[in-house]
Amino acid sequence: MRDSESAWRSALYGPNGFFSGGAVPADHFRTAPLIGPELAEALLVLLDRVDFHLGRPSRLDFVDMGAGGGELAAAVRELAPRACADRLHVTAVDLGPVRHHPGVTWTREAPSAVTGLLVGHEWLDAVPCPLVVGPHDDPWLTRWWPLAPGWRAEIGTPRDRAWADVVSRVRGAALAVDYGHLRADRAAGRYRDGTFAAYRAGRRVEPVFDGTCDLTAHVALDACAAAAGGDHVLVSQRDALAALGLSTAPTGSGLAWLESASRASRVAELRAPGGLGSFGWLLHGVGVRTADLLPPLPPWRP
Ligand SMILES: C[S@@+](CC[C@H](N)C(=O)[O-])C[C@H]1O[C@@H](n2cnc3c(N)ncnc32)[C@H](O)[C@@H]1O
Repeated sequence: MRDSESAWRSALYGPNGFFSGGAVPADHFRTAPLIGPELAEALLVLLDRVDFHLGRPSRLDFVDMGAGGGELAAAVRELAPRACADRLHVTAVDLGPVRHHPGVTWTREAPSAVTGLLVGHEWLDAVPCPLVVGPHDDPWLTRWWPLAPGWRAEIGTPRDRAWADVVSRVRGAALAVDYGHLRADRAAGRYRDGTFAAYRAGRRVEPVFDGTCDLTAHVALDACAAAAGGDHVLVSQRDALAALGLSTAPTGSGLAWLESASRASRVAELRAPGGLGSFGWLLHGVGVRTADLLPPLPPWRP
């Protein structure tokens, strides 16, 4: 079953892979950075808190890990306030082709040291892992996804390693934003068919490993959290965005009200229960306390 991981990897990142071949995520699925500038605005609020608690270092990083088309990195660069713009280095990391955005550096690997905020927005769901059917003997499954006979699962070890690796490079904060699940629900059989799925041009399709579709699976964010360790919180996007100041109430009058109403509807989409609002935000503080970055929020319930 380890072969399924290699097949998945070469289908996305091999010579004719879906992402390595240049597929722009925006053509196949709608992610939060494509909705509008509001996610970037909220992340700039978070970045400012990190910056403050790091003592406003001479170099401040924002790293967009698994950047896809680079929309998030570009928006952060463009909207960064003057107070930090000169110190800010924005890096987009992706295995796909380089995209050009003014002021954004592209790399294929995470920088070895990051001082500031690293964000993996819908990155970990695109990290391939072994697909298995229970019963199956694997220590990760025993700890994180106990299987009854016939249940399907994805072994999260490659995601745990990938996340722990990037968090270890950070001084400041690292944030994974993704759809995912928790052990209690996995063990109870809520995901007994597994979550592996394929998408092409916005539609769910039958998975094929030939580079013609995106292959993805929900992320065991609790396992990633434990793998990276340290001070962390796991909360919903809905709550986190409100805590970073994104509100859904339109204000003003006339044209200002219209603009504010359309902004409110974009924020509502980002915070929609059962939609993007149910994404998990896994935030690690490294040299900065997560309690200084977000107020106490209810634990994430996907
Ligand atoms: C689902 S897309 C998300 C794109 C973007 N962050 C967004 O939210 O619109 C996942 C991206 O992660 C990239 N990726 C996956 N594994 C990676 C790795 N190890 N290093 C760099 N990029 C990676 C893929 O190439 C793909 O562009």
